[in-house]
Amino acid sequence: EADKLWGGRFSESTDAFVEAFTASIQFDQRMWREDIQGSRAHARMLNKVAVLTDDELSQILSGLDEITSEIEKGELEWSIQLEDIHMNIEARLTALIGAAGKKLHTGRSRNDQVATDIRLYLRSEIDLINLELVRLQQGLLGLAEREADTIMPGFTHLQTAQPVTFGHHMLAWFEMLQRDRERLADCRKRVNILPLGAAALAGTTYPIDRHYTAELLGFDGVAENSLDAVSDRDFAIEFCAAGALIMTHLSRFSEELVLWASAQFNFIELPDRFCTGSSIMPQKKNPDVPELVRGKTGRVTGNLISMLTLMKAQCLAYNKDNQEDKEPLFDTVDTLRGSLRAYADMVPALQVKKESMYEAARRGYSTATDLADYLVRKGVAFRDSHEIVGKSVAYGIEQNKDLSEMSLQELQQFSDEISEDIFDVLTLEGSVAARNHIGGTAPAQVRAAVIRGQKRLQE
Ligand code: ARG
Repeated sequence: EADKLWGGRFSESTDAFVEAFTASIQFDQRMWREDIQGSRAHARMLNKVAVLTDDELSQILSGLDEITSEIEKGELEWSIQLEDIHMNIEARLTALIGAAGKKLHTGRSRNDQVATDIRLYLRSEIDLINLELVRLQQGLLGLAEREADTIMPGFTHLQTAQPVTFGHHMLAWFEMLQRDRERLADCRKRVNILPLGAAALAGTTYPIDRHYTAELLGFDGVAENSLDAVSDRDFAIEFCAAGALIMTHLSRFSEELVLWASAQFNFIELPDRFCTGSSIMPQKKNPDVPELVRGKTGRVTGNLISMLTLMKAQCLAYNKDNQEDKEPLFDTVDTLRGSLRAYADMVPALQVKKESMYEAARRGYSTATDLADYLVRKGVAFRDSHEIVGKSVAYGIEQNKDLSEMSLQELQQFSDEISEDIFDVLTLEGSVAARNHIGGTAPAQVRAAVIRGQKRLQE
C-alpha cells in the first residue's frame, strides 16, 4: 500500500467500500483552517526544540501558506483515499515541498491533532455564537424599553393570571439567554486546553515544549494527562448540552410567538419577511421561522444524546468511535447559528398589538389578586379575602363584567371594606405599577432592568 501514509505494514489495499466507510474527509474538511493552524504551531515548536531546522520550518510554513490559498480558491481536491483532513493536508504538503513535509508529523499523532483541531474550531464557534446571543439580547432590551408600559395578560397554566408588561416578558427571555452565555463561557474554559503533545496516547520521545505550542495557539493551558487528552470529548458534550438548552429556550420563545401571532391571541404581528404563505389557502401567513426553530430543537437535543451515547462505553484512549463526534457537533453549531441569526434579525421587528393585549388582560379577571391584596390592606385575612374575591369573580362571569366594570355598590355586596379607592387598584395600569420592586413587572422596574441589562452585556 504505497499510496497510504500508514501503508508500510499492509500487504493488500483497503477495500474500496471500507475506504469510503471509514473516511471522514466529507465532513472534517470544515476544520482545514484549524488543522493548518495547529500544524504551524507544532512545526514552530519542533523548530524551537531543534527537531526541525530553520530551513525545514520555513519550507513547511510556506507550504502551508500555499495550501491555504489553494483551499481558499477551491483548488485542492479532497481525497477519500487520504481518509481525513489531517492526511489530506499532510499529503499535499509533501507533494509541494518534499522531504521537509514528511517531518511535520514528528512527535504528533492524528489522535492529539484531531482533538486540537476540534478545540480550536469550537473555541471560535463559541465566540461567534456568543455574539449572536448578544445581538438577540440587545434586540430584547430594545423591545423591552419600547414596550415598558405595554400591558398584556401574564399566564400560568396558559390561563390569564395577572397583568404584566410586555417589556417585562421580553426581559424574562433576556435572562434565559444570559444564563446561556454564562454556560458557554464556562464550557469555553475547558475547551481551551491543549491536547497536542499527547501524541497517540502516551506522549512522545521528542523534547517537546507543550507550553510554547499552547501559547502560539492561544490555549490557556496544556492537558495534564496524555491518555485523557486524546480520549476526552467532555468539552464537546458540554457544548452540545449548552446548545440544547439554548435551543430549548428558543423553542419556548417560538411557542409563544406562534400562539401570539394567531388570530385567537392577536398579540403580535410578525413581519411578512419572516413568514410564508400557503399554496392552497390564500389568506394564510404562517409563522415559519419560530415553528422551524422549535422543530430544530429536536435535532440539537438528539445531538447531545448521540454524543453521550458515543462516549459511554469507550475505554481509554482514542477509539475510531470518536470520529462520530463531528457530525452531531457540527450540526449543533450550524443549527444554533442559523436559529440565533433568524431570531436576532426577527425580534427587533416584532410588531406589538397593544390594544388587543390590553383587552385580553381586561377579559380574564387579571386584577383579582389586586382586589384580594386591597382587602388585606383593609384588615381582612388573605384566605377570607381570597374567598370574597372568588365570589365577586363568579358574579362577574355571570354578569359578563370585569371587576373594574362593576359599580361600587356591586362590589360592596361582597365586602363592606371596599370603598371608592378600589378603582385605582382594579385598573391594569395600577396593577402593574404596584409591583414595583426589583424583578417586578412595573414599567419603572422594566426601564431600570433594561439599563442594568445593557451594562451586563458589556461585562
Ligand atoms: N479522522 C479521525 C477522527 O476524526 C482522526 C483521528 C484518527 N486517528 C486514528 N488513529 N485513526 O477521529
